[in-house]
Amino acid sequence: MAELKITTTSPQDTEELGARIGSLLPSGSFVALRGDLGGGKTCLVRGVVTSLAPQSAHLVASPTYAIMNCYPGSTPVYHFDFYRLTGDADIAELGFEEFFYGDGVCIAEWSERLTELLPADVLTLQFEYAGDDQRMITITGAGPKSGTVLEQLSEKVAQ
Ligand SMILES: Nc1ncnc2c1ncn2[C@@H]1O[C@H](COP(=O)(O)OP(=O)(O)O)[C@@H](O)[C@H]1O
Ligand SMILES: [Mg+2]
Repeated sequence: MAELKITTTSPQDTEELGARIGSLLPSGSFVALRGDLGGGKTCLVRGVVTSLAPQSAHLVASPTYAIMNCYPGSTPVYHFDFYRLTGDADIAELGFEEFFYGDGVCIAEWSERLTELLPADVLTLQFEYAGDDQRMITITGAGPKSGTVLEQLSEKVAQ
């Protein structure tokens, strides 16, 4: 499975996709979200948190000022937004790598800012506009963990 393309037709649809993905993510997963502002990245994170840390789902917003928000749950979710950071030097100083290789699930908006710091095992979701309420989401998986998640997701979507 090289990639999976899914077009969602509403914010709820994107959130549901996030919940499905969340239910498949083992602890230690890293999910990279790419694409323009308004693409639906934060919306998808809300779905992931709904499945892994439901009591916190209503709190999900772009952590524009915080850089990282933590949502405690059976599997803690660390939600990053690297929009304002410019490069590896900045990000390395912040010491986030201990979260990237920890027991929670990491999900990062503007993950392209990470360059060299991006973990090798990564599930990547690229968001593109496909109409007012439509978003095309292209999902790829690098590494064994993310590859398995992508396969399981493709089976679910095909059903
Ligand atoms: N299919 C869709 N999926 C996700 N968001 C959608 C969709 N259609 C319209 N939207 C709207 O697009 C915006 C997405 O915002 P957000 O999730 O914050 O994007 P990002 O985090 O990528 O900047 C919201 O205003 C949402 O209501
Ligand atoms: Mg956002």
